[in-house]
Amino acid sequence: MAEPGEIVRSGATAGGGRELSVRVPGDKSITQRALVLGALAEGESRIGGALRGADPLATGRALAALGVQITGLEGSADDDLRIRGRGLRGWRQPNAVLDLGNSGTGARLLAGALAPQPLDAVLAGDKSLSARPMERIAAPLRRMGAGIEYPELPGRLPMRIGGAPLTPLRHESAVSSAQVKGAVLLAGVGAEVAVEVSEPRRSRDHSERMLESMGVEVVERAVAGRWSVRVPAPPPRLAPLDMRVPGDFSSAAFLLVWAALAGGRDALTVRAVGLNGTRTGLLSVLARMGVAVEVVPRETAGGEPVGDLRVDALAGPPQAVEVGGDEIPAMIDEVPVLAVLAARAEGVTRIAGARELRVKESDRLAALAVTLRRIGVAVEELPDGLEIEGTRDRLSGVAECFRDHRIAMAFGVLGATPGCDVRVDDPGTSDVSFPGFWKLLASLRRRSETARGGRAAAANSGSAPEGDGAAPGRGCLVVAIDGSAGSGKSTTAAAVAARLGFRHLDSGAIYRAVTLGLLEVRPGDAAPHRVTPAELAALAIDLKWLGGRAEVWALGDRIRDEDLRSERVTALVSRVSAIPAVRACLLDLQRSAAAGPGLVAEGRDMGSVVFPKAEVKVYLDADPRERARRRILQRGTRSPGPAEIETEAARLGRRDERDSSRSVAPMRRAEDAVVIDTTGLDPAEQIDRIVRLARDARRASR
Ligand code: S3P
Repeated sequence: MAEPGEIVRSGATAGGGRELSVRVPGDKSITQRALVLGALAEGESRIGGALRGADPLATGRALAALGVQITGLEGSADDDLRIRGRGLRGWRQPNAVLDLGNSGTGARLLAGALAPQPLDAVLAGDKSLSARPMERIAAPLRRMGAGIEYPELPGRLPMRIGGAPLTPLRHESAVSSAQVKGAVLLAGVGAEVAVEVSEPRRSRDHSERMLESMGVEVVERAVAGRWSVRVPAPPPRLAPLDMRVPGDFSSAAFLLVWAALAGGRDALTVRAVGLNGTRTGLLSVLARMGVAVEVVPRETAGGEPVGDLRVDALAGPPQAVEVGGDEIPAMIDEVPVLAVLAARAEGVTRIAGARELRVKESDRLAALAVTLRRIGVAVEELPDGLEIEGTRDRLSGVAECFRDHRIAMAFGVLGATPGCDVRVDDPGTSDVSFPGFWKLLASLRRRSETARGGRAAAANSGSAPEGDGAAPGRGCLVVAIDGSAGSGKSTTAAAVAARLGFRHLDSGAIYRAVTLGLLEVRPGDAAPHRVTPAELAALAIDLKWLGGRAEVWALGDRIRDEDLRSERVTALVSRVSAIPAVRACLLDLQRSAAAGPGLVAEGRDMGSVVFPKAEVKVYLDADPRERARRRILQRGTRSPGPAEIETEAARLGRRDERDSSRSVAPMRRAEDAVVIDTTGLDPAEQIDRIVRLARDARRASR
């Protein structure tokens, strides 16, 4: 039998390619549960095929500190694990903090198992784990009677658990989480009290299956649109486990996606993978994308279905897909690899209902958005998902993986496909769940490149991807938003930039910086209207970009927003910005903002003078009284009266008039600008319209 990570060649595909097959390391979720439940059993458990990743090692060490004897965990993947169970409440008082490293499952399951034990233990973790929410398990355990405290930050590790005799509990979890469910079930089983947990959608059910195999009655059913799991009468002892851990579907998923994108004619089979339906949701999403994975069922191991998964390389790009909240629990860990596949798909993939990804080993939605953008993919980050616009352009850069194993492996997969030159900043993180991942990926890639006669190698050393004759053309897309005062430019521009992951240039802030600078260097001149280029150069106006937002600098200092918006600056800025030398001197600075995937530039002459070739030009306008009302509200007045509105409308009118009649770069609508009257428009609608214009422009420029 091949070892995890070894590639076996087993014949030819119908299309003349090779049939390759590999195995992946044991399932992380199942290994973790086998360790914790084995430690609660009476007698010795034997576990074959367990994962030797950093996560189970951390759980194993914590169990050892609790007096549980475990052998084989640090050995080779071939050795069986042997766990000497100490019974339901027989763990020993630890004499040090239990460090769970990066392992959320380890920490949460142990918390549940510790809650009924007559011990006092402190659980801690690395930086990533210490940022993840713990109250979701602490609250139900506390209600059962456990003493739980946070010595440092509320709701975060470290967490002190004072075990106690527990009472039965019926818990409605707000999130679909196997870790929450597992913690409550283990607490009930350990305390020998009935528990019931319900969750919005069914999460992975490995704890339930394993408990059943140890002699515990588990009742599962759908109730009122939720999924409920009940242990009505936990027995006084758990029978030891004797099982083989199947290959981890979540690890296999990386290889399946790689094989689909690898090109060529080879097919890849991942053997002996766990096919529990609460884990394999990705398969139906892949099918909708045109990636057909053949499933060959084999035996059942430890109450879990097992089989082989075979995939052929795609001949063309995959299709974009919509993935909704109902589907997420069964593919919660596969979203990163789905996202990189979506980056190569035809069309825009929309993933929604995935808010839980924000509290994984990293904020995976943010991590995916930032990193995909950095290598050249257009992504919108939604509160609960992502919109990813597939591209066939060459992708390149260093992928930041935020110390998250699945982000690292997802970008590793992408980087090993034709047309990508992507390196991962911290490959070592993959050891958490998939030791040997990089070696296996590199040898698969080598084979596929040799099979394709070096074509892929060429694509990876600077030429365009196969089937894509066009030049990459990754220019910065400019969205110019001009408009009258109070038309909603700033808020709209900022929101559009955030949605698209573009930079946001607020040109008004630069004119304000000049005004402030002039007031500083010429304290006696209350109304500067002439200024020389040398004087302007001495102001050293500059923009320093931090992600999509710029800090404005003048005279060597960063200028605070409140100084830019101060009354004396507001009173003069329109006059200063009408000075021809001022406008001329700031032109290059504004144009230099157009870098990266895109820029949303907002002002008075963005579409007409600064970026006359902007791909999208928008001119925002609104009824003068409405604009006046918004300005007053912006200043903090609750509900302005009619007189106040009239006065402000007249003031705005004068300002617009002055800006429109100045000699250089007068405010005017570019002829090709799309005019949006925002008077009765809901801001979200306004933002959506501009985002759509930008997307269409991006598509057209490809
Ligand atoms: C896991 C459950 C999932 C998953 C994690 C492992 C488990 O988390 O993301 O990698 O083993 O129970 P949630 O159950 O919190 O969604």
